[in-house]
Amino acid sequence: MTHEYDVVIIGAGGAGLYAALEASKQAKTAVISKLYPIRSHTGAAQGGIGAALGNVEEDKPEWHAFDTVKGGDYLTDQKAACLLADEAVQAVYDLENRGLPFSRTPEGRIDQRRFGGHTRNFGEAPVRRACYAADRTGHMILQTLYQQCIKNKVSFFNEFHAVDVLIEGHKCAGLVVIELATGELHVFKSKAVLFATGGFGRMFGITSNAHANTGDGPALVVRRGVPLEDMEFFQFHPTGIRGMGILITEGVRGEGGILRNNKNERFMEHYAPKLLDLAPRDMIARAIITEIRGGKGIKGDAAIDDYVHLDATHLGRDVIEAKLPEIADFSRTYLGIDPAEKPMPVHPTAHYAMGGIPTDMHGRVFADGEGNLFEGLYAAGECACVSVHGANRLGTNSLVDLIVFGRRAGLHIADFVKKAELSPLSGDATEPAQTIVNRLFNGKNGPQPEELRKTMQDLMMQDVGIYRGGKEMADAVKKLEDLRQEYREVRVKDRNKSFNTNLLEILELGNLLDLAYISATCALNRTEIRGAHAREDYPERDDDNWLKHTLAWLRDDRVEIDYSTVDVSVWEPKPRKY
Ligand code: FUM
Repeated sequence: MTHEYDVVIIGAGGAGLYAALEASKQAKTAVISKLYPIRSHTGAAQGGIGAALGNVEEDKPEWHAFDTVKGGDYLTDQKAACLLADEAVQAVYDLENRGLPFSRTPEGRIDQRRFGGHTRNFGEAPVRRACYAADRTGHMILQTLYQQCIKNKVSFFNEFHAVDVLIEGHKCAGLVVIELATGELHVFKSKAVLFATGGFGRMFGITSNAHANTGDGPALVVRRGVPLEDMEFFQFHPTGIRGMGILITEGVRGEGGILRNNKNERFMEHYAPKLLDLAPRDMIARAIITEIRGGKGIKGDAAIDDYVHLDATHLGRDVIEAKLPEIADFSRTYLGIDPAEKPMPVHPTAHYAMGGIPTDMHGRVFADGEGNLFEGLYAAGECACVSVHGANRLGTNSLVDLIVFGRRAGLHIADFVKKAELSPLSGDATEPAQTIVNRLFNGKNGPQPEELRKTMQDLMMQDVGIYRGGKEMADAVKKLEDLRQEYREVRVKDRNKSFNTNLLEILELGNLLDLAYISATCALNRTEIRGAHAREDYPERDDDNWLKHTLAWLRDDRVEIDYSTVDVSVWEPKPRKY
């Protein structure tokens, strides 16, 4: 079946929905999602959205921008960070006006809490910048935006999975997707396509990411000649539930929670004497692993690594139930621990991809490091790289990124499609996608996809995780090449067309394998420590050689690397101290 729209948005998280909201005011807009929109992973963002409202103490967008740049270890593009911080303020008020039920101060203003790396006056002390709705902020954003999109008559195609993007030369003409209910391929012809497919944390064994976070957008576009930017930078959130990775929000530390080792010491005193438990995530995740390696972790059992404690007992039951009800529930459900009575066992968990599809500040996708653009191709949210997060994102800035750049992309698209035409499609547009699906259905039994997935996830955890070494990563790259070869022999066992989750999981695994291979190759290539990329064999940040973005292409099934310039036009890069 073929459909025609002005704009097709793939992904129904915060970025996709905000873009749809703006685009649909002027253009015929479709949102395609492999989930129901309100199940999108934005709903898992707990602790808050950063904006310098100054509601509870003095704050300025300029301070927010500086923290974002410093938090990103100076790989952040600085004008983009300034724009993010400036537009965050109005974006939060827009969400409030659209009905988002923020938590309030006693005077009725939007309340704000502390979060890692967010400071007043360029690093003096933590500042209350995160606007929040208890610890369900992302969930509330999704609900608010979804109802507004329904009001605007956006067409939703739920439970449709993208298999191919139609790009000829440097022009995007639409998408090919599979309808999960029927197994039928659909062509969506459109003047513009926006990718808002979220992250790809499922390439790691322990992650806060939903099962759906398989990097479908970046994987599709990289196969069609689009480069990916800064794929070596993947953030580990310090506080996942031990052994499971489920997120325990940084909001716990924002409210005063403390990390402790097996001697009950507040170990962050040794790593970040000023910001302590509210240092940026890369530093805290490394500190936890250093404590564990130094024998100061709390003993796990055979199946679970050693861990540390996140102590919220001193906050009191009333604060926990009012401001952190969701994580209190998680802790009781998954750990059998009431956080008002006992500390929670936590360990870093793979959380967020700083890298992704390179875009300008309107969401337009770059074709190279020279500023050339694809026509009609856009990306926003975690799958994109603007780059406002540099080498390490600050907590709360993912929600800001979704809202600010989702909105900007939607506005730009609305304008672009007024002048653009639908591109004629040459031949049968479904053919490449059909060939992939046929190959997976036909032929002999190959390796089990779940075994390949487990091997990939273990490799990425061990060798391309928080601490990284050249020898281990070279080995991981080689093994990922082998796994990608083996993947070619994987076959779908379930012969049904309707809701064939076996087929879906294999398509998703192919996406993860490609992105894991690219990420590991880029990590091996970057010989320095910067933000979340902690090379033990190159333990210094090296601005002389590495103050540059990585761009990676998949050509002849191999990763080719080039670089682009980092915008350092506002603040001179300095060593990071917290
Ligand atoms: O800790 C958290 O609530 C996560 C927020 C984020 O990743 O921005």
